[in-house]
Amino acid sequence: MALIKLPGLIDIHVHLRDPGQTYKEDFYTGTSSAIAGGFITVLDMPNNKSPITTLERLRIKIEEAKKRIVCDVGFYAGSLGDNFLELKKMEPFVFGLKLYLNKTTGNYLIDKEILTKIFDTWESKKPILVHAESDIIDEVINNVKRTGQKAHVCHVSTKYELAAVIQAKENKLPVTCGVTPHHLFLSKKEAVKLGSFALMKPKIEEGFKTYLWNKLKYVDVIESDHAPHIVKEKKSVNPPFGVPGLETTLPLLLTAVSEKKISIKRLIEMCFANPKKIFNIETDKNSFIEVDLNEEYIIDNKKLITKSGWSPFADWKVKGKVKKTIIRGVTVFENDKILVNKSFGKFIKPILN
Ligand code: NCD
Ligand code: ZN
Repeated sequence: MALIKLPGLIDIHVHLRDPGQTYKEDFYTGTSSAIAGGFITVLDMPNNKSPITTLERLRIKIEEAKKRIVCDVGFYAGSLGDNFLELKKMEPFVFGLKLYLNKTTGNYLIDKEILTKIFDTWESKKPILVHAESDIIDEVINNVKRTGQKAHVCHVSTKYELAAVIQAKENKLPVTCGVTPHHLFLSKKEAVKLGSFALMKPKIEEGFKTYLWNKLKYVDVIESDHAPHIVKEKKSVNPPFGVPGLETTLPLLLTAVSEKKISIKRLIEMCFANPKKIFNIETDKNSFIEVDLNEEYIIDNKKLITKSGWSPFADWKVKGKVKKTIIRGVTVFENDKILVNKSFGKFIKPILN
């Protein structure tokens, strides 16, 4: 055994599917999956079945969350460019605004004109998070340059995107970026083998994984983009995009630590300190996790807590296991079991409010 204590990790990019698609995941199973994976705070995306584009929908989501979360959960607002008044009303309750510039799950796509209008309207210290691939990333950076608005580029997935972010950082623009565990650990070859079970947005490009590991020092955040869909959907003729990730992200990273590909210090920076700083997340000194750096195990779909019930990393051998998760002094997860009741978690807002 080699037990060490780490801060309770923060995942700034999850899709808990509640309300609206609770057959895929719900607040309870999603947050249970989080604490089993060493995450004690998650920020949930707005692409619910009814998109979170109004205060009323956000209110309902918050009320529903309070009934069944076991870790701390915060939210983002969404926009299709037709809800400027509502954006102002939602702003105090969210960690940022998420925009989709490329096609993905849910009908959320916006164009350049709307992007510009939203950058002009948001007027908040909180970041605009973008799903912006190579074709549109320059447009986002131009808007940051023009307005000074903070932006976070989610799940960087190509050399071009990462180069654009690095350039923006060098130009002292308020741009940060995140990468997902699937872009860090899955090769194109492995993704092809997995078929629809590695179908996600953005997709995995040939050679990107190696490039990303070499440029990891420019990456601010690791975000799981936990996007659960059930096996039946993934096996269907029209499989949806997205893979679950909350329970596998930390074990995969700890395995990389054991292989000396990344240091524990850098892991903490990307999964705790940077998310905390960029999104102004309050943390508690009595919240932490215990991991065994030496324990090896095989990722087993049957043992996963996520309602989706599968992982693109199933059957992978990992080294590093979450033994205990403690939130505000209370052990919420130990011996593979969830130990608290459904309303233990808190709905959270950024500390700058
Ligand atoms: C996400 C989902 O399923 O909600 N899918 C995905 O492939 N990542 C949407 C998203 O974040 O793009
Ligand atoms: Zn996502």
